[in-house]
Amino acid sequence: MRMLNRWVFVLLVIMLPVLVCVTGCQDEQEPELVMATDATFPPYEYYSGEEIVGIDVDVVAEIGRRNGMRTRVENMKFESVIAAVQSGKVSLAAAGITVSEDRKKQVNFTRPYATAEQVIIVPQHSDIAEPSQLAGKKIGVQSGTTGDLYVAQNIQEPERFANGALAVAALVAGKVDVVVLDNLPAEKHVANNAQLKILPTPLTSEQYAIAVNKNQPQLLAMLNATLEAMEKDGTLARIAESHLNSPVATASLPAAEPGIWSSFHNNFIKNNRWKYLLDGLIVTIEISAAAALIGIFLGGLIGIIRSTADQTGRFRVLNLLCRLYLTVVRGTPVVVQLLIIYFVIFGSVEVSKVLVAIVAFGLNSAAYVAEIIRSGIMSVDKGQMEAGRSLGLSYGFTMRSIIMPQAFKNVLPALGNEFIVLLKETSICGYIALVDLTKGGDIILSQTYDAFLPLLAVALIYLSMVVVLSHLLKKLELRLKKNER
Ligand code: ARG
Repeated sequence: MRMLNRWVFVLLVIMLPVLVCVTGCQDEQEPELVMATDATFPPYEYYSGEEIVGIDVDVVAEIGRRNGMRTRVENMKFESVIAAVQSGKVSLAAAGITVSEDRKKQVNFTRPYATAEQVIIVPQHSDIAEPSQLAGKKIGVQSGTTGDLYVAQNIQEPERFANGALAVAALVAGKVDVVVLDNLPAEKHVANNAQLKILPTPLTSEQYAIAVNKNQPQLLAMLNATLEAMEKDGTLARIAESHLNSPVATASLPAAEPGIWSSFHNNFIKNNRWKYLLDGLIVTIEISAAAALIGIFLGGLIGIIRSTADQTGRFRVLNLLCRLYLTVVRGTPVVVQLLIIYFVIFGSVEVSKVLVAIVAFGLNSAAYVAEIIRSGIMSVDKGQMEAGRSLGLSYGFTMRSIIMPQAFKNVLPALGNEFIVLLKETSICGYIALVDLTKGGDIILSQTYDAFLPLLAVALIYLSMVVVLSHLLKKLELRLKKNER
């Protein structure tokens, strides 16, 4: 029991910063407009170097300025922007979002600030000239957009890409026959590709508006009033104008097969793109290490409770809770857990995403560690406990100084395995718009349209980390073995 108390204490100390931040981080901030977007949509939102710029960014910044609020951009997948508004993660979403009846059920829209169309991009020499010829062709779209929806409902299942630029890259590479995309982004892409053209007949006509949480009528009114004023005094038009003519570097495709060195230069050196990998690597290591710590302590605690309950019949209720925990955590995918923790549990709390990831992966890993530890404890011969107890040692003391060291040694390989899995599993962090190592490679890919080098680099970095980790574990194992004698 005393040992248990100590474990609880250690765990609390580790979790303290987490708790403090979760409860305290939100209050002392001045009013801030947080804008969700997906910066793969020039001229509305796109990367210029390391900065996200575009019509939407400028519009929201101007709204903020006129109302005395700071603004901040949260870049995420387009599919997440509406959910981010709904859950209160962000104040609003401005991402060239088309107003639609379905979306109106989830969020409120401001008055429209732009009109748009879904257009068809084809290669110059294509024999497709009319929307009616699309049936049976390979149609590329950005997943979750109105283009995606239109094609799926009116023509056939499209090929869904993470963003419009990747769909266009697939078109250039001959992997799809056409791309359906919003008109202005389409024009930007075509302007950079002599081999592409836009068909004269559009598929739809739409309106863009800013999405706001349904529980924020005041914010909506404020946005509407400011947007109206900005339209009247010509600010909206001026902002749009300024981005229509600026060249968008990110939408250009390599003209010809580049040499390996120039391709290396383009992917890693140019615009300091290697920084995405380095920053991502740091995030990956941070999350994995902290989650492993939580996993080992919480998992150890659960493992001990479970095996003590099994052996002595104590901790009935606690044991039941632990088993429930293991069932739920091991019975659901970690990516779903991550999303639930981010959008639901920490839904309306301002909390760092790294922290969310640490908590999610820590809680997840704990479930697996718990069973590993339990199997370790069970693997130690029963006689050891009996011997300890008959020498007059307490249960806790025998556990701590006789059973646990042996158990730990037995499960070390399995624990190592768990941490290797954990390290690689953090690669799903991109789902909550965290830029970890994998996402870093992904961003490079979406800027250079080169899948090979960025992914190869990411794979090599993970591989080296796993090799180093395995090596360290092997050393630890050897050391423990030596101590045996
Ligand atoms: N207008 C389309 C839609 O609402 C596409 C928007 C895509 N926006 C973006 N930032 N990627 O579905």
